[in-house]
Amino acid sequence: MEFNQSISLQNFAKNAKNKNKEKFAKLISITSGKGGVGKSNFILNLGIAMSIRGKKVLLIDADMNLSNIDILLGVYPKYTLTNLMDDLIEVEDLLLDGPKGLKILPASSGNLEVLTNSKRYQRALIQAYNDLRKKFDYILIDTGAGISDYSVDFVVNSDKVIIITTPEPTAITDAYAMIKILFYRISHPDINLVINMVQTEEEGKNIFNKVNLIVQHFLNKKVNYLGNIMFDHYLQEAVKEQVPILVKRPRSKSSASIHNVAMMILKGDKKE
Ligand SMILES: Nc1ncnc2c1ncn2[C@@H]1O[C@H](COP(=O)(O)OP(=O)(O)OP(=O)(O)O)[C@@H](O)[C@H]1O
Ligand SMILES: [Mg+2]
Repeated sequence: MEFNQSISLQNFAKNAKNKNKEKFAKLISITSGKGGVGKSNFILNLGIAMSIRGKKVLLIDADMNLSNIDILLGVYPKYTLTNLMDDLIEVEDLLLDGPKGLKILPASSGNLEVLTNSKRYQRALIQAYNDLRKKFDYILIDTGAGISDYSVDFVVNSDKVIIITTPEPTAITDAYAMIKILFYRISHPDINLVINMVQTEEEGKNIFNKVNLIVQHFLNKKVNYLGNIMFDHYLQEAVKEQVPILVKRPRSKSSASIHNVAMMILKGDKKE
């Protein structure tokens, strides 16, 4: 594959700007203010839930700090983006097979290369993304906590951004800080909240209402509520066994919550 120097943000044409009416995947990025709030588990299981509903889903693991979707699945990447940059493989060779037809691009493997040559690596990722977005209905991207130079292009060009928080005050404060940054950087952002590790539905709803009030008051904007995920010790067991909760315990309370979020997203997109 040739890496053209001009590959840049412009190549990130959104569906609406696609003149040839070619169908491109919807891009959804998942981020948080604070780390460790459950992003990777959420995105992996959300991808499975959408795949179960017949969607072609690609999950890009672009968390540069601690990439771990492959660990959650117990699969090990054979190739990295570095191999792609060196023209040794095709972009499809990078993809890992997840459950129910879900595909995973372990974009952050080979961290050393990222640190030493991050611009080149970022271009390779964008090129891979441009090749792959014609082949999927949805691309979900785990950007890690906060916005890095590496993931900002994806977040800013997403059709939808999902911010995860837990009920902890520190996580909520950091989620608000992230919302503020997103409204500052994106002109028409579709920002959605998911509250993870709640004890009751009501707890999640209350936290969302509080955050949304603050957003309305200080930023004069609104965020959407996509739902909550129940605290579930089965999910913690699933992590230890390296099997996604939706596969290991499809009827557990956290699995049910994640299915609900998937349905909310698909229902919303059907209306468009
Ligand atoms: N709904 C839940 N119920 C109980 N425990 C949970 C739940 N969601 C996540 N956890 C716990 O939180 C841990 C961290 O989750 P995860 O790795 O998905 O977070 P993360 O936001 O991706 O972290 P990082 O910022 O480090 O990438 C999990 O290993 C699990 O133990
Ligand atoms: Mg993570």
